[in-house]
Amino acid sequence: MSRIPVYEPQLGGNVSTYVNECLTSGWISSRGQFIARFEDAFAGYVGCESATTVANGTVAIHLALEALGIGPGDEVIVPSFTYIASVNTIIQTGATPVFVDSIDQTLQVDPSLVESAITDRTKAVLIVHLYGHPCDMDRLTEICRKQKLFLIEDCAEAFGSMWNGKHVGTFGDAATFSFFGNKTITTGEGGIVLARDAAVMDRCRSLKSQGVSKTREYWHDMLAYNYRMTNIQAAIGLAQLELADGFLRRKAEVAAFYAEELAGLPARMHGPVGNVTHSYWMCSLILDDANKRDHLRRFLHEQDIETRPFFPMAHKMPHCRTSQVLPIGESLSERGLNLPSFPALTDAQLAQICSSVRSFFLNFEG
Ligand SMILES: Cc1ncc(COP(=O)(O)O)c(C=O)c1O
Repeated sequence: MSRIPVYEPQLGGNVSTYVNECLTSGWISSRGQFIARFEDAFAGYVGCESATTVANGTVAIHLALEALGIGPGDEVIVPSFTYIASVNTIIQTGATPVFVDSIDQTLQVDPSLVESAITDRTKAVLIVHLYGHPCDMDRLTEICRKQKLFLIEDCAEAFGSMWNGKHVGTFGDAATFSFFGNKTITTGEGGIVLARDAAVMDRCRSLKSQGVSKTREYWHDMLAYNYRMTNIQAAIGLAQLELADGFLRRKAEVAAFYAEELAGLPARMHGPVGNVTHSYWMCSLILDDANKRDHLRRFLHEQDIETRPFFPMAHKMPHCRTSQVLPIGESLSERGLNLPSFPALTDAQLAQICSSVRSFFLNFEG
């Protein structure tokens, strides 16, 4: 059998037709019908008023923070157990990230630690729905409402994830998604920003497009960026959105296959906790013993099965190191790995992966 990657995009459906429409019409930059069509379809899918596309999921977070007015002197509470873009974008505004630990079972930020990290400089809480499982949105929205803090949802990994039947991204003051090639729906590179308040949304649209005046040509109202998505990317996104329900259904089947076939090992699959829909961006295996994680990854690599380690903790990175001990996240990040998680995985490939994982534990234990 050939190598099984952790992820590969599924570019069927109307992708080629829509992209060809861009090429033949000449609308290949950041103007054209697919931008608005994708934004409207995406907003409809997640259940919010409007959305604005951007070049990737990192600038999406930066744009949301800037549009909310976060900057020097502010503190933003963020889980250390996340992809680094959630943290770098805070630093890039001039604000200070304040790291908190996560919950072992869900892998998500611990709301009680968020609450105790609040100071009089705290301006916002940036939460991350990691690997497709939602954070506890009841508690986080309550804390932010009471303390009058902005709540920003980094949903890069959580397209299709629900908290109490409501799509993530619809709880916070602002929310962002990524459409990188390994995401549940992709535009190659790409992202999108949602905001509750129309004025914040307006500011996002202006900031992403050089702050250009609505009334005067080549006049710029503020210091701003070019963070725009192209019509070609949006064309891919619209076609992907049409296929999204099928992707999510198959990803749930993939997760169920792993959960059943890998039960009883000294490891657990990351499953849903509470009234949530886990969208399984990544199917994650968390070993009891951190010392075995890299051995397992090497063993699978030798069988042509690609895996990814869990993210290292952000507060250990050179540019944002703190002396904190965040024991839950630190332990998770050393014990976890992501298994192949894309919707086109066949049952034969899944059986091969599970059999390889089981044989590793049999040999290692024996
Ligand atoms: C949690 C999280 N935030 C932000 C991003 C950044 O998205 P992008 O790679 O599109 O810039 C990612 C990307 O993988 C992510 O996983």
